[in-house]
Amino acid sequence: MDLIKKNTVVFISGRGSNLLNLIKFSKKKNSPISINLVLSDNPKANGLNYAKKYNIEYKIVNYKNKKEFEKKVKDYLIKKNICFICLAGFMRVLSENFIKFFKNKIINIHPSLLPKYKGLNTHERVLKNKEKFSGCTVHYVTKKLDSGKIILQSKTKITRGETIHSLAKKVRKLEHIIYPKSIDKIFKKNN
Ligand code: GAR
Repeated sequence: MDLIKKNTVVFISGRGSNLLNLIKFSKKKNSPISINLVLSDNPKANGLNYAKKYNIEYKIVNYKNKKEFEKKVKDYLIKKNICFICLAGFMRVLSENFIKFFKNKIINIHPSLLPKYKGLNTHERVLKNKEKFSGCTVHYVTKKLDSGKIILQSKTKITRGETIHSLAKKVRKLEHIIYPKSIDKIFKKNN
């Protein structure tokens, strides 16, 4: 029997390398998700080019007022029958109400080994603190920033002469492995 894929939206704000990776993953026969919509708060997000390239509907929602933004987004996701939300470099913090409405349906990728280095500028802070390792985490989104249940993590060693740029690149590579794996883990755990 063919798998019924979950209608998914990916929220982005910028580059979109995770989006591209998730699009490729979603095209696989056994992937549990189909990406039906890409949502960006930034009209200049490079990730929008991937939505265009793969003919995926995209929506740019202007973020002036959080309440208005979330109302628009929520109504649209309901209209489109979206049941799963992947945050992929989406740089806004969602409200408790929004998260509650989509309880256990929103996941995020964060470029650190949570619970360490929540928030912004993770690589910079990791290097400043002379950490030996860093990595990335996929987790459920809850009202407390970067604190929801962890789905998967991946770790990398920090080498001598590591820069923010080199670390970000290394971590992104790991992100591209664990984001799809996390989605598989969520939807295939009972199979
Ligand atoms: C990724 O490294 C992701 O972990 C990070 O933004 C980058 C987006 O890259 N997310 C956060 O910092 C969320 N707080 P991408 O646009 O190439 O996917």
